[in-house]
Amino acid sequence: MYYQTDEIVSKKEFLKEFFKQGKNVGAVAPSSKFLVKKMVDPINFTNVKCIIEFGPGTGIITHELLKKMPSDSILLAFEINKEFCERLNKINDPRLVIISDSAEKLEQYLVEHKIDKVDYIVSSLPFAMIPNKVVNAILAIVTKVLSKEGAFIQYQYSLNVYKRLRTIFKNVDLNFTPMNLPPAFVFTCTN
Ligand SMILES: C[S@@+](CC[C@H](N)C(=O)[O-])C[C@H]1O[C@@H](n2cnc3c(N)ncnc32)[C@H](O)[C@@H]1O
Repeated sequence: MYYQTDEIVSKKEFLKEFFKQGKNVGAVAPSSKFLVKKMVDPINFTNVKCIIEFGPGTGIITHELLKKMPSDSILLAFEINKEFCERLNKINDPRLVIISDSAEKLEQYLVEHKIDKVDYIVSSLPFAMIPNKVVNAILAIVTKVLSKEGAFIQYQYSLNVYKRLRTIFKNVDLNFTPMNLPPAFVFTCTN
């Protein structure tokens, strides 16, 4: 019952932030449970030490990651929306670090937290709304910090980024769910 209420509050807050700054938020509602599952399913949580999340929003994917991550692991979540950060900061879990800054700054925060290896990067960034220069900078950092066995998992509402990801990663697995508003493609990128 509590979860349902919380879910409704989360949807309202999401819509409010979309009307305030739609370009950055990139969606009218949090991801559906079907999309969340597709984002988390490619992760092998055994031995995971560090996961990075880009654009956690109201935390729908964050909660699922925390449910499955080992107790000695860390989740660094980058979110530029201040209201969303306030909400995320209420999640009471010592493994979660909310970073109220842009995904482009990932490297700087890895140094600060003395992290040299990232197992997975789970991203909801609305690439279609972000300037090309910034997307390129983010993807360059992703490939630099991701461990050899790691994966970059990204969802988008179009296939626009597919070609670009294929030039960067050896393998890009494409998945799709119609059960989301709007329907979404999930790219799982590995080397
Ligand atoms: C489509 S929403 C996804 C929210 C949530 N992960 C979900 O799936 O419901 C995209 C999120 O990315 C955040 N965002 C946009 N640009 C960002 C950036 N450069 N760095 C970090 N977060 C960013 C937005 O504020 C928004 O919360």
